[in-house]
Amino acid sequence: MEMIKFDASHVKDFIRPHELDQIKAQAETARETLIEGTGAGNDFLGWIDLPVAYDKEEYGRIKAAAEKIRRDSDVLVVIGIGGSYLGARAAIEFLKPNFYNQLPRTAVDAPEIYFAGNNISGAYLNDLVALIGDRDFSVNIISKSGTTTEPSIAFRVFKAKLEAKYGKAEAAKRIYATTDKARGALKTEANAEGYESFVIPDNIGGRFSVLTAVGLLPIAVSGADLDALMAGAAAMRAQIKTAPFEKNPAMQYAAIRNIFLNKGRKIEILANYEPALHNLSEWWKQLYGESEGKDGKGLYPASYDLSMDLHSLGQFVQDGSNLAFETVLNVEQPMSDVTIEADEQNLDGLNFLAGKNMDEVNKNAMMGTVLAHTDGKTPNLMIDIPARDENSLGQLFYFFEFAVGVSGYLLGVNPFNQPGVEAYKKNMFALLGKPGYEDQAEVLKKRLSE
Ligand code: PA5
Repeated sequence: MEMIKFDASHVKDFIRPHELDQIKAQAETARETLIEGTGAGNDFLGWIDLPVAYDKEEYGRIKAAAEKIRRDSDVLVVIGIGGSYLGARAAIEFLKPNFYNQLPRTAVDAPEIYFAGNNISGAYLNDLVALIGDRDFSVNIISKSGTTTEPSIAFRVFKAKLEAKYGKAEAAKRIYATTDKARGALKTEANAEGYESFVIPDNIGGRFSVLTAVGLLPIAVSGADLDALMAGAAAMRAQIKTAPFEKNPAMQYAAIRNIFLNKGRKIEILANYEPALHNLSEWWKQLYGESEGKDGKGLYPASYDLSMDLHSLGQFVQDGSNLAFETVLNVEQPMSDVTIEADEQNLDGLNFLAGKNMDEVNKNAMMGTVLAHTDGKTPNLMIDIPARDENSLGQLFYFFEFAVGVSGYLLGVNPFNQPGVEAYKKNMFALLGKPGYEDQAEVLKKRLSE
């Protein structure tokens, strides 16, 4: 299998060799803490061996459920928020052609797949209901707790639509619940109503759950090869779990990010040159933002899509305050390509490109930008991805998960909790009049009226 490559050659002017030497021992310690399970958050390390130690019985049921959905549905609605949807969305967009939902079924060989329950917009739900119309559909509701506001509201809407269309008994056969193995509101409902259910393991947090049923069921419905995805993750695990620092791209990435943070860089920008990687960046932002942004510490994980954003944020990155460093995702082999034709009039002066493929232009834009941004005092790391395929994606998921574990321990935080996520929920519930929140409601309403 061709492996993804981490390339730090463009940060030589920003990091001296002795700085890497100095952090190396700390990175080794952080890695030991991670794989021996001796650090904070060690109840949530189930993802480390997941690519080789997953539940084979459930894995078979996931594939069978996906086949049923592919047979009996024109649309799959995936309901979840945060770690309960970002991985699946990233994977499907990475692996499928652009505009996959608009392409004819004969071209993509899969139902249309839409995501709901990741916002609180009634307009979004109305528009999605209208888009589905009278077509056959199924729902995958994904929630560990089963009580998260956004997905719970969306589930009420789509469950009602399913029951109105098919009747309660048939609707139940079109609802797939991915949730806790034994507890929680959704598990209780799944048991009572007879929904097929899949497990979010206790020892895997939402943002590390893409290779569990959370990600695997929607990804399988898209027609992707789950075996190749898991094999990619397993290959990366074999490469980085125990390799020494010098041969370990994930540890080097973790170390360099911490060196940059210590030097005053506050932001890491994940850059891509393929629109299909947009949601991989969204997944990465949650993984790094929730894992490291705590105790007043952490790099802010940002992202942009290039070359589009070179025409908006490019000015700032080239020439503005030196807040950030970039990590560039480079897809080596494009999924398809276009050869540029000569134009008789050549009014745009681009005939010098005639006969070249767009990927050659894209790669030259990328390398030109790496050099320009580096000259402009924004360091650039690169990750070379062989292709938009399952092997590469499995590697990438595991690479970033392992690196954030090492990086979080290097930073001195618990990479596996997310205490800050609760604050907005408490205020929202208080303002909406949820029983039990009366005192807080009074304080908040006073603050808002001042
Ligand atoms: O990473 C996390 O833990 C969160 O993003 C959760 O996945 C998200 O809040 C959804 O929670 P739940 O699965 O309980 O609905």
